Amino acid sequence: MLSVRVQGWVCFVVLSLLNFLSIQEALSQAPPTQLPGHNALLMGADWYPEQWPEERWEIDLRMMEAAHLDVTRIAEFAWSRMEPSEGHFDFAWLERAIRQAEKHHIAVVLGTPTAAPPAWLTERYPEVLRVDSNGQRVTHGNRAQGSVTSVKYRELCHRIAEEMAKRFGHDPNVVGWQLDNEYGYGMMSYNDEGRRQFQEWLKGKYKTLDALNAHWTTAYWSQTYDNWDEIPIPVGEHNPGLMLDWQRFVTFAWATYQQNQIDAIRAHAEPRQFITGNLMGYGFAAFDHYVMARPLTFVAWDDYVGAGHLDPDTNGISHDTMRGLKRENIWVIETQPGSVNWSNLNNSLDKGEVRAMAWHGIGHGADEVSYWQWRSALNGQEEIHGTLVGPDGQPVPLLEEVAQTAKEFADLQETFRDTLVVSQVALLNDYDSRWAIDWQKHTEKYDQFAILKSYYHALRKIAQSIDIVSPDVALDQYKLVVAPDLYLIPKDRAEHLAAYLQNGGHLVLGPRSGLKDEFNALLPIRQPGYLAEPLGGQVEQFYALEKAFPVSGSLGDGEVSVWAERLKTTLSDAEVLLRYGRSNGWLDGQAAVLTRRYGRGRITYIGGVLDDKLMQAAAEWMTKSSQVTPVFGSVPDGIEVSRRLGPNGPVFVLINWRAGKQTVTLPGSMKSLLEQKEVTQIELPQYGVAVLSDRAKP
Ligand code: GAL
Repeated sequence: MLSVRVQGWVCFVVLSLLNFLSIQEALSQAPPTQLPGHNALLMGADWYPEQWPEERWEIDLRMMEAAHLDVTRIAEFAWSRMEPSEGHFDFAWLERAIRQAEKHHIAVVLGTPTAAPPAWLTERYPEVLRVDSNGQRVTHGNRAQGSVTSVKYRELCHRIAEEMAKRFGHDPNVVGWQLDNEYGYGMMSYNDEGRRQFQEWLKGKYKTLDALNAHWTTAYWSQTYDNWDEIPIPVGEHNPGLMLDWQRFVTFAWATYQQNQIDAIRAHAEPRQFITGNLMGYGFAAFDHYVMARPLTFVAWDDYVGAGHLDPDTNGISHDTMRGLKRENIWVIETQPGSVNWSNLNNSLDKGEVRAMAWHGIGHGADEVSYWQWRSALNGQEEIHGTLVGPDGQPVPLLEEVAQTAKEFADLQETFRDTLVVSQVALLNDYDSRWAIDWQKHTEKYDQFAILKSYYHALRKIAQSIDIVSPDVALDQYKLVVAPDLYLIPKDRAEHLAAYLQNGGHLVLGPRSGLKDEFNALLPIRQPGYLAEPLGGQVEQFYALEKAFPVSGSLGDGEVSVWAERLKTTLSDAEVLLRYGRSNGWLDGQAAVLTRRYGRGRITYIGGVLDDKLMQAAAEWMTKSSQVTPVFGSVPDGIEVSRRLGPNGPVFVLINWRAGKQTVTLPGSMKSLLEQKEVTQIELPQYGVAVLSDRAKP
């Protein structure tokens, strides 16, 4: 009989092989974001031909082609042009626009116009207009005014999407579809129709009111429901169980709204036409993006900096979150041509920054970048937003930089064919946990994004590639998985994470982990709940901090602030890595960080928000103890490295985000693809970009 040790080793080898094979399998399939017959990298602009006389289209398309743009998204708000009166459709103009784009080798993505219903529609069917949380029905003339739960609105949305698909579902120059626009920012209608659907949804979920009352602990404050009709839509602070279910219903409402259009299009469109939606990055969390992304061919998102300048961590987190939704490459279907019009300061990105931003997207897994928008309408709410062409129809200064970048994309596109981002480290993102913490922050200073970013920054500096994924997906491909604050750890999630540990993974949990179950109720066990057993330790008490307190131990010395948890070991083989110094009395001398081997892996619990230096030390320890290796090698601070891996080996994108020139010594001789020469060292000015291939390294 094989010894336990040998069995473990065999298992480890088999699992590593399986990981390797699944990565190889992913690498051997063309990503859906790279369209057959088209360049692997695309650049485009969002264009609104309905706003311009037809004579002008030819000039615009010729200019786009000259700027090396190869894709345009159209029709997205043009409902009143496509259905000028109820049931009368006019697609002839759209057909002409598509044909003219084709003549200029510009592929078309059609947007469904459902974010902007025509005036005749909202006039005839006022019930389709959303009712806000103050009970006010919104008026016509803006956008996103449709009610997601309106049966009538869905019927009308289905009809326009279906008519479009009947007409263009086989069009050779239509490569795909974008549904709606940013899904109405997830806004809901606070009317009886929506409330009834919510109650029905709850009935489907809980079956009996007894079950609902028990899971929501409605005995508290006399909240007990005797009838499904009594259940309100929560406005403001409410029962946490009800609030979480409402938020899930919001996801359900938008997912079914989306599916209604997918069904309308899929029935008539060729399978080669993709269907996507324009999502909005990490920061937008009105619904659960994992659910929304499921039926889409791939994820596309709108990448705007707003005020200030691009922060590679903040923007990288959004790219990586969007890429993690389906664990597949993405499109940036809208991005900022210099400036926006909606921020507190609509400054322009610096010269060179727009190009760097486009390459940053490619490095993080984008296969398309499109500017919103080509040319602004002469009137309308967004008339002074950044564009590529001015109101006079002539290029703005930025167009030259965009054209240069588009040319670079075209020149290097083959290098990026079939390449994916492959990471050894994952951060976990869970919408339920994010909502639940934000509803009960306990200290206004608890900023989940800042905490995620501190882990991301420290870990990315070392690993140079990070995935951000749902806690519920297969995790075995990662050497290290970090959950900065996974509040909800129901039993099945705990079992899934424990299996990852058994298989050799290292799971790091941050503060607030495992306090709650899937009903947003407190677990009747100490944190991290069902993972306390593998940890061999638990949280004794949590504290919202008034000020920072010292911590020290084998990870170094430093401070925790905002939040601290007093930990205790329950098994003798759990190790204490950090202890609190003199603090509030309760924490003095107590454990702040625990770790323990479990199965073939390791589980670590970090009970406080660490300062930057300590976080870096913790990241060094986490990566070292998990055998995480950098994908490229050492680079100076301010240089961001990204890697995409394909059948022909890796390709690296290096960008200097710091002021001033920086020199990077490469780990070996590489080919600088933008310069077409072999190099061992490169110099990058601020916003400078290098694309490097290293065929020697698989
Ligand atoms: C996006 C939206 C576009 C446009 C843009 C302006 O969020 O999808 O239609 O409004 O913002 O920055």
